[in-house]
Amino acid sequence: MAAQTMEQLVSLCKRRGFIFPGSAVYGGLQGTYDYGPLGVELKNNLKLAWWRANVWEREDMEGIDAAILMNKLTWRYSGHEETFVDPMVDCKNCKMRWRADQISGKCPNCASTELTEPRPFNLMFKTQIGPVPDPESFSYLRPETAQGIFVNFKHVLDSTSRKLPFGIAQIGKAFRNEITPRNFIFRVREFEQMEIEFFVRPGEDEAWHKKWVEDRINWWLSVGLSRENLEPYHQKPNELAHYAKATVDLLYRFPHGLEELEGIANRTDYDLGSHSKDQGSLGLKARVSPNSHSTDKLTYFDPETKQHVVPFVIEPSAGVDRGVLALLSEAYAEEQVKPAPVDRLKPVEEALGTFLKSVGRNEKLPAQAKEALLAEGERIAQSLGERLPSIAGLLSMPGAEGIEVAKKLRGQVDPVIDEFYRTVLHFKPHLAPIKVAVLPLKKNHPEIVSTAKSIRRKLQSTGAMRIVYDDTGAIGKLYRRQDEIGTPFCITVDFDTLGEGKDAALKNTVTVRHRDSMAQERVAISELEAYLREKMQ
Ligand code: GAP
Repeated sequence: MAAQTMEQLVSLCKRRGFIFPGSAVYGGLQGTYDYGPLGVELKNNLKLAWWRANVWEREDMEGIDAAILMNKLTWRYSGHEETFVDPMVDCKNCKMRWRADQISGKCPNCASTELTEPRPFNLMFKTQIGPVPDPESFSYLRPETAQGIFVNFKHVLDSTSRKLPFGIAQIGKAFRNEITPRNFIFRVREFEQMEIEFFVRPGEDEAWHKKWVEDRINWWLSVGLSRENLEPYHQKPNELAHYAKATVDLLYRFPHGLEELEGIANRTDYDLGSHSKDQGSLGLKARVSPNSHSTDKLTYFDPETKQHVVPFVIEPSAGVDRGVLALLSEAYAEEQVKPAPVDRLKPVEEALGTFLKSVGRNEKLPAQAKEALLAEGERIAQSLGERLPSIAGLLSMPGAEGIEVAKKLRGQVDPVIDEFYRTVLHFKPHLAPIKVAVLPLKKNHPEIVSTAKSIRRKLQSTGAMRIVYDDTGAIGKLYRRQDEIGTPFCITVDFDTLGEGKDAALKNTVTVRHRDSMAQERVAISELEAYLREKMQ
């Protein structure tokens, strides 16, 4: 089961510290999000998995980390100054600005059809360079990481003596002044990309393009996305970016619909050709703007043919934030641990009904918040038995805290959730923000606590994984809390561990509880590290 609605994810992310709205204390900044303690671990794990698969485990790849700020000429010759634009309309009534191709002639805010003619809007953020506001001293925050790779092509080639085909990989921030940022971290103004520019001999580009599409699908499967939620889409000629000969988008079934997760483009010799001097001598296949500023020819000397060529480029370009969203969505499940009896569900059903009536009657709630609360509440009410844990998410949606009967609903639902349900993130272990939680059965028992803390310290000192110690509740509650953040293993230290239980043979062993199956087994403390390493593989 994956997430059904974006609200489920937004609420879990905020509640448990994965992702927060940016600059919240000042009313926010649209299109920006901050990654919290668990979000940063998840995002780092995703980036590390990508780097491992594409740089460490391949023999034809190098990595770089280029500057975000680049000479503004980069963006002239890359084509971004001229072509990185969206057609935009303004609503004459409410003054909101929209992308013309996304609104079918009607303002989504006030429904007015009084719109201006579409005008081009450049998506790059312009910024001043240096202390003097001279009209020429500016550049842009990079809208893609790719150009940092192209301008370093010769540096990498010369410093590594690579032969074609080979690639350069980079992970880094990109910025786009999106007109309508939306759908949580799906479309934001500041995001991260994981990009590869893979350089091949002209003529071998189409075969490599096909191979990279397969490779990239397989990689997304390896981090836990399911094949039925991934769909390759071959862009039509009129959809291609200015640099592309062909592009295959990998679409993912996000909670808000089937949308692009990654693009794999055949960029031909456009970019290296664009950034080269003496273009006339290079035999370029792509049409490029004449470059009067470049100081170098971005070519490769082919030892076999003894000729200089401009390599073609295959570019798999994935969004980190969209990757995080896809992982969260795929991993999300609300599960019944055991069926709740009718007499326990009835009071929750009544409290939910009262809550929704109160939302409906509330005149202070903004229309959008009211609509979202009612839609989510009704979705839950339709099959309460299955969806009861979603009420926790409902109660943390905007506007819910101001509804007086919300407290009563929470009071009814929390004990039922604790006893009969769980929300769980079924992350693959290598992606999980926390790999192991060490839990003492009793937090007031000094020996249990010190044993648990020493297990945490010992496992953490291996440097192989993030381990936490948690004693802030009863064991059942702690298990649920770790399930909700996707921790694959919990270790419980109890009286048996100390040799004070019924079975003396259990001395120096702990309970290992598995997130997905909820199965428990006894493992010797001395074998824990090897045991966890093997399970983590
Ligand atoms: N260098 C090629 C390039 O940038 P793109 O299709 O514009 O191509 C690549 O972007 C990926 O970057 C997308 O597939 C998406 O995952 C991510 N991306 C693009 N714009 C984004 C935005 N505003 N918010 C979040 N991710 C974005």
